[in-house]
Amino acid sequence: MAGRIPQDFINDLVDRADIVEIISSRIQLKKAGREYKACCPFHGEKTPSFTVSPDKGFYHCFGCGAHGTVVGFLMEHDRLEFVEAVEELASYYGQDVPRERSSYNTESPSGNAALYELLNKAAERYQAELRNDQAAIEYLKQRGLDGKTAADFRIGVGPAGWDFILKALGKTDTDRDNLLKAGLVTKNEENRVYDRFRGRIMFPIRDGRGRIIGFGGRVMDNSEPKYLNSPETPVFHKGRELYGLYEARQAVRNPERLLVVEGYMDVVALAHHGIRNAVATLGTATTPDHLRTLFRFTLEIVFCFDGDKAGRKAAWRALEMTLPELKEGRQVRFLFLEEGADPDSVVRDGGAAAFNERLAQSLPLSEYLIEHLKAETDLNSLDGQARLAELARPLLGAIPEGVYRELLLDRLAAEVGMPAERLGQHLGSGADAPPAPRRRSAQSAAPQPAEGGPKTLIRKAVCLALQHPEAIGGAQVPDGLFDLPNPGIALLNDLLQTAAENPDIRPARLAEDFADHPDGGTHLQTLLVQDLHLDPGANWQQEFEQTLVAILRQELERRIRSLSARPASSLSAAEKTELRELYGQLSGHHGAGS
Ligand code: CTP
Ligand code: MN
Repeated sequence: MAGRIPQDFINDLVDRADIVEIISSRIQLKKAGREYKACCPFHGEKTPSFTVSPDKGFYHCFGCGAHGTVVGFLMEHDRLEFVEAVEELASYYGQDVPRERSSYNTESPSGNAALYELLNKAAERYQAELRNDQAAIEYLKQRGLDGKTAADFRIGVGPAGWDFILKALGKTDTDRDNLLKAGLVTKNEENRVYDRFRGRIMFPIRDGRGRIIGFGGRVMDNSEPKYLNSPETPVFHKGRELYGLYEARQAVRNPERLLVVEGYMDVVALAHHGIRNAVATLGTATTPDHLRTLFRFTLEIVFCFDGDKAGRKAAWRALEMTLPELKEGRQVRFLFLEEGADPDSVVRDGGAAAFNERLAQSLPLSEYLIEHLKAETDLNSLDGQARLAELARPLLGAIPEGVYRELLLDRLAAEVGMPAERLGQHLGSGADAPPAPRRRSAQSAAPQPAEGGPKTLIRKAVCLALQHPEAIGGAQVPDGLFDLPNPGIALLNDLLQTAAENPDIRPARLAEDFADHPDGGTHLQTLLVQDLHLDPGANWQQEFEQTLVAILRQELERRIRSLSARPASSLSAAEKTELRELYGQLSGHHGAGS
């Protein structure tokens, strides 16, 4: 890996860049006073609400709330990673991006550019070859795919024989070298060079920008190995990439949820049936890199695994990987298919409807975690309860402090049938301690109120509103949020309205204006300077919207829990109706569909 880009360089570049020039080279801007206007490129609209302010070096859409600096714009508009956006901007101004020294250096960008080009040419050849290969076409048809889907995923075929790619693309020594580097050809002990992929259906693997970085190749019969993948190359890192992510984002830029399935064929078959939000790891376990990538584009991840033993094992590993990433607003669910089935077979047999039906029954992470722990313990005995606490401790400890962890602790406590406080002590004081006595442990691992940060979600939302009024005026508010009776909700509502009407209002002014607000206005000066413990470059509107959704969800869940904890016979008709409605609302936030 190359070293980091010095922050000073980035700051300088952004300061000096002409945001109007960069944006207007991509969309048509119209001058309006000191600013520029356009129809927003990030959502469909007929009247322009997208503005660019050259003075502030900012763009902002009053319609969808998209906003940011020139780098943010390039990331969103050109779908670039941060570093790529910086490189793009630097190259526009003819600057080289400096790198801090790092222990070792890989290829120069120009070297990689040659590999990308070669990989793309190879994909073109494989695709062209598919058109002539009746057996391969038959194979794909028999797997339920058609030409359209094959084209969407740029599926091709590497013909049998030793030198299809070598002959086509290895004309010079440099080309042959690069073919080796790109993993398209390989060398035997006698230094003979030949095609790596022979007689295989070729699945190109694309990075976030759509560049082909490697291939997976499948045999068309039962021979072994079933799949052959590109080796690690300067542009291909297996543990980091997700097959289908680029294609999914082409379909929906920020999908409501992303599905993680096991195989290439699952991704392609789902897409063929209109479920275009599936991705697959490249035959590896899910890594933290994968999760961070996925959570950049969505708030909900659904893992789909086989119901067999291997699938369960993979699912539990995925759960453990996910715990540290569980921040407020994020959702993770698990879908277990029956033994022998995979998403590909489900859609082939029953279409999208069959798959969506299964999806609707997927388990939230918390349910899965609790089910799993319960299956391993006997809760009727004190020993069993202690054992559950012992098993739960490292899991809860892996979740970042905050509301999610507290909710899970509550749920666990309810399952074990002990007060959350006591279970918390259990978790902190070691499982071999007797369960009954109340002891305080110095090194308690039990959930604490978020250190330093806001203590509740509502408080966090108020902080965000107050500190970034410019970012929240256009925020989407989930239905029903402002009907909640919780303290702070009325204040939040009023803050939001003021911010929407006065997008330029300064935080200090906002805090002052609301100091007399009956719903906690006196705290605003404190909240104004409260450290949110968020990345200074965070997308504030998104953070705010996620917090609002999390507040609502938390309240729905709280109410559901309190109703469903009672025997059904004790519920009034009105309460039963309410419970049904609550379930409906909750599933509205993570129901079926893609
Ligand atoms: N895989 C691999 N090498 C293998 C077998 C599997 O890299 N020899 C990876 C591939 O990424 C594959 C995934 O593991 O997509 C899941 O394997 P499997 O379920 O066997 O493959 P499918 O994609 O479902 O393929 P098919 O339905 O054609 O058998
Ligand atoms: Mn399969």
